[in-house]
Amino acid sequence: MLSLARGFLERKGLGEARLEAELLVAHALEVDRLGLFMRLDAPIQGAELDRARDSLVRRGRREPTAYIVGQREFYGRDFLVGPGALVPRPETELIVDLARERIPAGAREGLRVADVGTGSGCLAVTLGLVLEGSSVDAIDLSEDALAWASRNVEALGATVTLHQGEGLEKLGELARSGGPYDLIVSNPPYVETTERELLSPEVREHEPPLALYAPAEDPDHWARALIQLSGHVLKPGGLLLVELGHLQGPRVHAIAEASGASAAEVLDDLAGVPRVLALVR
Ligand SMILES: C[S@@+](CC[C@H](N)C(=O)[O-])C[C@H]1O[C@@H](n2cnc3c(N)ncnc32)[C@H](O)[C@@H]1O
Repeated sequence: MLSLARGFLERKGLGEARLEAELLVAHALEVDRLGLFMRLDAPIQGAELDRARDSLVRRGRREPTAYIVGQREFYGRDFLVGPGALVPRPETELIVDLARERIPAGAREGLRVADVGTGSGCLAVTLGLVLEGSSVDAIDLSEDALAWASRNVEALGATVTLHQGEGLEKLGELARSGGPYDLIVSNPPYVETTERELLSPEVREHEPPLALYAPAEDPDHWARALIQLSGHVLKPGGLLLVELGHLQGPRVHAIAEASGASAAEVLDDLAGVPRVLALVR
């Protein structure tokens, strides 16, 4: 089964065919990759064979592996994902690192945190867990995404309240009713329309367009709007962390500098790409 799977995925042009074959066959047998090698001599039963075939056909159509196996790791925890929610990316973990670094352990009790465009809830849930004592409001326009976020809030047991609505409006409403925030994070849609063709088929054809694309007329719309709004919805000294597309760094830094914030910088991810705006009100 493994060698058939590998051959099939190679013919479909997938780069890491061996690893992918192991992951997908292991998923079909409901074991992890180690478990797979422990039962190499066991016969494969009918239902397992059907599941393996189904997974391979889906992968052959370039559906993301995370959607097929139903989860993706983020900051050391497994998040449930499927069509309708963006697959969590490793570069987004930088937001969690920065929040942990800049908010000392003694200052986390009662912290008010908001996540705009929560998707699977990977940022909201992780922050709710690592910033012990904080409470997180997570907002998304997409009901499908919120359904995944809700499963993750429940499975991982974080103090996160989910809100459906337009992100910026809802953030304003929540700050008016519950008071300004100490920390606002967002990984907004930032792919520029000119870059659409550069995306892999996994992303372009399977992940939700609402999660991917910045407005064509203003690729910096989200960062700009969050910077402007932060003057009303963040406490003085509060922190705004926004993930950026690889072309946005210098433009967004200039917008932040001109915004009257007390400090603003753009930090690089592990690949050296300017990735996260950190702004202090
Ligand atoms: C790039 S995804 C980020 C998801 C998740 N935070 C992550 O890092 O994996 C952007 C999210 O913003 C949501 N979104 C797009 N437009 C929105 C809007 N106007 N209001 C609220 N959420 C929106 C999308 O549904 C999507 O879940």
